[in-house]
Amino acid sequence: MRILVLGGTVFLSAAVAAEAVARGHEVTCAARGSSGEPPAGTSFVRVDRDDPDGLAPLAGREFDAVVDVARLPSQVRQAVAALGAGVRHWTFVSSISVYSDNSTPGQSPHTGPLHDPLSADADERDVENYGSAKVSCEQAVLAALGDRANVVRAGLIVGPGDQSDRFTYWPLRLARGGEVLAPGAPEEPVQVIDVRDLAAWIVRSAEIGVVGVFDATGPTVGRGEFLDRVAAGVGDADARIGAAAGGVAAMDPAEAGAKPNLTWVDQEFLAAQKVNPWAGPRSLPVWLPLPEYAGMLDHDVSATLAAGLAVRDLAQTARDTLVWARETGRDRADPADPADLHAGLTAAEEAEVLAAWHRR
Ligand SMILES: NC(=O)c1ccc[n+]([C@@H]2O[C@H](COP(=O)([O-])OP(=O)(O)OC[C@H]3O[C@@H](n4cnc5c(N)ncnc54)[C@H](OP(=O)(O)O)[C@@H]3O)[C@@H](O)[C@H]2O)c1
Repeated sequence: MRILVLGGTVFLSAAVAAEAVARGHEVTCAARGSSGEPPAGTSFVRVDRDDPDGLAPLAGREFDAVVDVARLPSQVRQAVAALGAGVRHWTFVSSISVYSDNSTPGQSPHTGPLHDPLSADADERDVENYGSAKVSCEQAVLAALGDRANVVRAGLIVGPGDQSDRFTYWPLRLARGGEVLAPGAPEEPVQVIDVRDLAAWIVRSAEIGVVGVFDATGPTVGRGEFLDRVAAGVGDADARIGAAAGGVAAMDPAEAGAKPNLTWVDQEFLAAQKVNPWAGPRSLPVWLPLPEYAGMLDHDVSATLAAGLAVRDLAQTARDTLVWARETGRDRADPADPADLHAGLTAAEEAEVLAAWHRR
């Protein structure tokens, strides 16, 4: 197939383009090129979608399928108007941020209420408007493409290439060993999707014409199991990294490392210690306050799994993420110090909070 990836220079859209090349498709990536290089084997067309006529370089080109990751309704409307007519299948990558209710577990596209679409006078670039903007994007795609559209509401996307570090903190931290500060409680829900699994499903869905609206993330696991799987993936990571240098070595769960030494600290104590949830400095990522966010990482994805989304073992995601983090210097010179990450606690911050917890 001739596949156009609107994007392709970073993380998910790059993984989609790479997967499509690997599956033998003719792939064009269209972006400004400011976020990075498109994957090998693709052809690149420089476009700037901030320009109202920015897709002109694609005029006259025909594609069987398009994958778009845009966040701005103006860019999505421009794309469907310019390219929608002759396309057989259109994937729009949306987000579970379209849902207005973050507290109810088990929601799906059939049950979850959505944010209102963005009002005409709202700033579509304001990050506070991200969910509403994605709702407007979805509506533009569905209005123009109808039953040719696959709307993919991604959950937390993790794995090699993730610039947010929300997941990457955990492989780096568990590889370091010692007493690990674990937020909340082991049974609290966690739900993530490996970027490569999501990319593979997007490409396969384009091939076979999967259409509809899907929540695209992995099955829910407890945070205890989540951390155990991450630890299993990185437990003997140093021995594996040599093997993985020429590619990704096969993961044998039987070889997995020992159980991590976790100290669970409740959310009230963490809040009192000014530890932030989810992302950013002085945070514990993949942790969200309850009950407000009890549903955010606990969507019902049975329909998506039935539609072919296949998810790998989290241990493998963790190990590959660790390899990538070290290769790209995210752990910098001192692997014991994650201070250079965009998310998480530094080793000193973690030790300080643990000491306070033990003194309480
Ligand atoms: N990360 C998560 O956990 C998460 C969770 C839920 C949903 N999502 C969704 O998943 C998708 C992630 O996409 P992604 O990983 O590929 O990252 P992204 O940062 O959304 O990528 C945007 C792509 O569009 C291109 N682009 C941006 N501005 C442009 C412009 N003015 N003109 C032309 N191209 C432009 C960028 O390339 P250039 O900068 O090179 O132009 C890049 O290739 C997004 O739709 C996001 O909303 C992410």
